Amino acid sequence: MTVLPGAGRVAMVTGASRGIGEATAHRLSQDGHRVVLVARDRDALGKVADALPGPSLVVPADVTDQTQVEAAFAAAESEWETVDILVVNAGTATASALVDTTDEEWQRVLDLNLTAPFRCVRRALPAMTEQGWGRVVVVASVVAKRGESMVSAYTASKHGVLGLVRSAASEVARTGVTVNAVCPGYVDTPMTDQSVAAISARTGRSEEEAVQLLARRQPIGRLIRPDEVADTVSLLVGNGAINGQGINVDGGAVQS
Ligand SMILES: NC(=O)c1ccc[n+]([C@@H]2O[C@H](COP(=O)([O-])OP(=O)(O)OC[C@H]3O[C@@H](n4cnc5c(N)ncnc54)[C@H](OP(=O)(O)O)[C@@H]3O)[C@@H](O)[C@H]2O)c1
Repeated sequence: MTVLPGAGRVAMVTGASRGIGEATAHRLSQDGHRVVLVARDRDALGKVADALPGPSLVVPADVTDQTQVEAAFAAAESEWETVDILVVNAGTATASALVDTTDEEWQRVLDLNLTAPFRCVRRALPAMTEQGWGRVVVVASVVAKRGESMVSAYTASKHGVLGLVRSAASEVARTGVTVNAVCPGYVDTPMTDQSVAAISARTGRSEEEAVQLLARRQPIGRLIRPDEVADTVSLLVGNGAINGQGINVDGGAVQS
């Protein structure tokens, strides 16, 4: 891998093979950073890498497996020394009434949306604090801040990860490292496509009606675009004074 002279920091993005992670990888690459692309699907990561304007490293890994998290960081460090920017984005959603949520469903969501971020942030922080500069951005959700029906496991995981962000931010506040979250509303990604299909199957509405239903959850009346989330990640990377925040990218659904 050729490292261009004057290239920026090293940014690891989990869940970089599609959706918000793909858009964030693009944005950070445009910003001049070298990007470490992490997800399970090697081929999809390769296609994302091919489309980036700058250097990147494809590192297939399942972030729910601690050994694979360690191996992903080791691969990044062996290529580029330190992960300066960590975007914890890989996530999963599930929709069921609380009383129908199984232990397996609960655990699957918590493993990916809460435990994996904890392990990634724990692994990334020491090198960042040691060098006196680092940025962690977790892609949480608007349901990190409010409850919604039919998504109790997802909502609990996102409330939990925002707590992790706030606590970590307090711990590293004097070290040159910031830890923040972005909290999107419904974003136009494959994850939302799945939600649309599920609503359509459950309610008998057409997929177009289901999209409109989710679009109306944002006061601006439309789905959020992945690049709008990526812009916010970029802003947090560029700013050392914002710390411990969950920045809403939700068209005004939660005013806080
Ligand atoms: N879409 C929304 O409306 C919305 C709203 C608020 C918050 N969010 C949050 O934003 C984040 C990204 O969402 P998205 O809509 O872009 O989702 P998406 O389209 O479903 O993409 C999820 C990404 O995570 C990766 N991933 C899934 N399981 C993984 C695992 N075990 N290990 C490593 N990577 C894994 C997927 O790649 P592989 O399958 O190749 O592993 C993919 O790159 C999630 O945390 C989600 O909760 C989404």
